Amino acid sequence: MATTEAAPPRIATTRARREHPPGLGVTWRRDNWWLQPLAVFLGLSAFGVYSTWAALQGVYYSCSTAQQGLNLTCNYLSPFYSPLLGEWWGLSPAVFILWMPLGFRATCYYYRKAYYRAFFLDPPACNVGEAREHSYCGENAMPLKLQNIHRYFLYLAILVLAFLWKDAYEGFLFRSDSGEMAFGVGIGTIVLLANCVFLSFYTLGCHSLRHLIGGRLDSFHGGSCATRHQCWKGVTKLNEHHQLWAWVSLVVVGFTDFYVRMVAMGVFNDLRLF
Ligand code: FES
Repeated sequence: MATTEAAPPRIATTRARREHPPGLGVTWRRDNWWLQPLAVFLGLSAFGVYSTWAALQGVYYSCSTAQQGLNLTCNYLSPFYSPLLGEWWGLSPAVFILWMPLGFRATCYYYRKAYYRAFFLDPPACNVGEAREHSYCGENAMPLKLQNIHRYFLYLAILVLAFLWKDAYEGFLFRSDSGEMAFGVGIGTIVLLANCVFLSFYTLGCHSLRHLIGGRLDSFHGGSCATRHQCWKGVTKLNEHHQLWAWVSLVVVGFTDFYVRMVAMGVFNDLRLF
């Protein structure tokens, strides 16, 4: 008796094509999917090495600037040392500060995705095989549950940001030999200001802040909600480009420390614009 062979189920074939075979880095993808995790790995590693080195160097905040033969002292403070708490137990002041912005970034929703992929390859990218298949099941258990502390780091980050704005304001003040303070603008002033702007874009676009402002409301109608709605729209606008601000602010904060350090060490002079 002739038998008819049943056709393999369509869905199984489709799934086999869509899901990659098991194994780290195995994928059907044909694009350069590894470029992004590699760039994240290199970028975060470079910043980590530089910031650790810079934090252990000591304070750099006073520097000279030349204008029309006057010897002026500028008031630039590296963001790694702000607010300046002084040296305790022989430790660099930066040690008492940096854990706050570091904790804020380490628990940031965007950075979590980025470094889970770049450093733990878990998974390396979308639809790319990982070492232990489907081992990630959210941040529901320890130690990843600790990432929920992000909202508290947000409060600390806003506090540090307020000090950075104060430093940016003081970057406009220059002291002459006679002790008089004068208003002015140097390249360093602009660098400090740009640092505050980009850090504000990053901090105020935080997912936790967006939730704090509007996440618990069913409606923005009535009472003081109009103001709240405007704030929520502003935060949402920044939040849409959170990844961009995360990287720009990281590069700029590193550059700001570098600039202030070089001027303070006398490697180059700060150019006074007016
Ligand atoms: S989610 Fe990125 S700073 Fe809060």
